[in-house]
Amino acid sequence: MRLILYTGKGGVGKTTTAAATGALAAEQGLRTLVVSADAAHSLGDVFDVPLGPEPRRLAERLDALEVDARHVIESHWGRVRGYLVALLRYQGIEEVIADELALLPGADELATLVSVEKWAESGDYDLILVDCAPTGSTLRLVTLPEVAHSGLRWMLRLQRATARVVEPLARGLIGAPLPNAEVFAEADRLFYKTLHRLRARLLSAQTSIRIVVTPESMVIDEARRSLTDLCLFQLASDAVIVNRVLPEQACREAFFQEWGRTQIERIRDVKAAFSPMACLTAPLEPDEVRGVAALSEHGKMLFGDRDPAGRLGSSLRLRFERDQSGARIRLPLPGLDPAALDVIRIEDELVIGVGERRRKIALPIGFAKLEIDRVSYRDGELLVSFGTASSSHSSPSSPCAATQAAP
Ligand SMILES: Nc1ncnc2c1ncn2[C@@H]1O[C@H](COP(=O)(O)OP(=O)(O)O)[C@@H](O)[C@H]1O
Ligand SMILES: [Mg+2]
Repeated sequence: MRLILYTGKGGVGKTTTAAATGALAAEQGLRTLVVSADAAHSLGDVFDVPLGPEPRRLAERLDALEVDARHVIESHWGRVRGYLVALLRYQGIEEVIADELALLPGADELATLVSVEKWAESGDYDLILVDCAPTGSTLRLVTLPEVAHSGLRWMLRLQRATARVVEPLARGLIGAPLPNAEVFAEADRLFYKTLHRLRARLLSAQTSIRIVVTPESMVIDEARRSLTDLCLFQLASDAVIVNRVLPEQACREAFFQEWGRTQIERIRDVKAAFSPMACLTAPLEPDEVRGVAALSEHGKMLFGDRDPAGRLGSSLRLRFERDQSGARIRLPLPGLDPAALDVIRIEDELVIGVGERRRKIALPIGFAKLEIDRVSYRDGELLVSFGTASSSHSSPSSPCAATQAAP
């Protein structure tokens, strides 16, 4: 089952591109589902039919749905949520507000992943396309299983350990609502089983991320920053799509000549910045692209001879190297401020911090006993060189770090 997520700044054409990919792939024979994960759903508008949380048939082999985060959360983690609402209300917060607050940050993204996973496992589809919410939210979506997995696991363990002892005593003494065993069991299922599965799905070779941009510098800059995050979390991105490219004949008009010239330069920049990802272009259409037939035509312009569901290019990958001159890890992290970078080794993991984000990378056995010798950042690539075997268990080292990443 192939999974492709479309991300990018608001308004660049994510929904249109995801829907066009779906219309074309279904026409070519793939059982396709297009999922809207943007709370401001517009997938139904693009297809010109109202959509709900269950798949709706739009054409042969083509289905679409809009995720209802509240419904997913209620049915999977109603108890955890109920507990949070009770706790917030106890603290004097009004019910409606408590209700909103208990939809924790990342809850929308989690709901999306859970509903994608449900349909991915159903066996009903060959291809699932996700129309993501704007960039920041997409990054939260794709990094959530990883971040939540390592962070919340500890919190949960601690809470559980104290609850067993404290809860029976505390229940009689204080009025504050305490989580019961069912709440813990539900949270446990969420953090261990569900996140584990979602993480495996996102890191699978069958999953790709496609970044949609328009030929505008602000949009491209944001896309480059999101690429750094995708690299840090080793999520495979196969293509960047430059949407709304002015057709040649329009550029011959005096008014658009300058646009035409800068557009060529910007597409060249995008190709260079995102290589080895593929770079595709889609023309600015004379009107909005709506309905399955028009979307499929737009898809043909975009993909040409390429397979819309294929792996269109490759992404920058982490590399472990070992030879006579030593051992090294190379991680492409384009467009980074070296001051925001922080690298340490903790036992058999390398912890890489970029600003507020942190990523742990398990070291192969051969590296785990080595000390970090040098950390450098050049030409958009982080290079961690290892020296001789270490005797200690922890070796903080951040020669090129000026700031400490948030804990
Ligand atoms: N290639 C294109 N040509 C003409 N109009 C487009 C094109 N791509 C998107 N649009 C229009 O631009 C608007 C925003 O597109 P949309 O796909 O909803 O963006 P996003 O999902 O990124 O917010 C919509 O009105 C859409 O019809
Ligand atoms: Mg959209």
